[in-house]
Amino acid sequence: MSWIKKRRSETYYKRAKTEGFRSRAVYKLKQMDEKFSIIEDGIRILDLGASPGGWSQYSSLVNQGGINVALDIIPMRRIENVYFVKGDIFQDDIWTKILEFSSDGYDLVLSDILMHTSGDHSRDQANSYFIAKRILEICEHVLTRNGKTLVKTLQGDLTEESRKEFRKHFRRVFLTKPASSLPRSSELYILGEYYSGR
Ligand SMILES: C[S@@+](CC[C@H](N)C(=O)[O-])C[C@H]1O[C@@H](n2cnc3c(N)ncnc32)[C@H](O)[C@@H]1O
Repeated sequence: MSWIKKRRSETYYKRAKTEGFRSRAVYKLKQMDEKFSIIEDGIRILDLGASPGGWSQYSSLVNQGGINVALDIIPMRRIENVYFVKGDIFQDDIWTKILEFSSDGYDLVLSDILMHTSGDHSRDQANSYFIAKRILEICEHVLTRNGKTLVKTLQGDLTEESRKEFRKHFRRVFLTKPASSLPRSSELYILGEYYSGR
């Protein structure tokens, strides 16, 4: 890593520590929220792959009057105003567990999940593509009409395919990379707005 990139990564890491956030990832969500107004107060938010909890900390601060649910395969330390579900997004019927906290569904589904990167870009990208498809499947069960989703993926040959899949279900789709995401990383976020319904 060049010293500039290392410096940038360390800057966000240190800032997160000073500001009491659990991960530097929080700034990615914050920057995308500032650009696209994704989160508002009083909504129902599902944060998939939430641990250690930076995104959940941020969304529960903005959404103090709403419902915040976080899910991960690994445990997460408690965050005030956030319900935690331990589970795997690939588990059969995972939505049943998720809907226990908000039986009428969610207005926003976030996913910052990435499988362990193998170093083989095509393989990593294919994995991120399948994760994004699984998030769409979860949306079918839990996302309300006109709801939004924000999903991490890896840029590459399958990006256009993912965009097309999202376009089938969301009226507006954006691909975005926040400033705090390292330039050397191929991560990219897909934002879908105005879900056409379950
Ligand atoms: C990059 S971290 C998320 C960081 C988080 N957004 C934050 O701000 O602190 C990705 C998380 O996805 C979780 N994860 C990976 N595969 C998963 C799966 N199949 N189901 C649920 N969570 C998963 C990992 O355990 C990890 O905690």
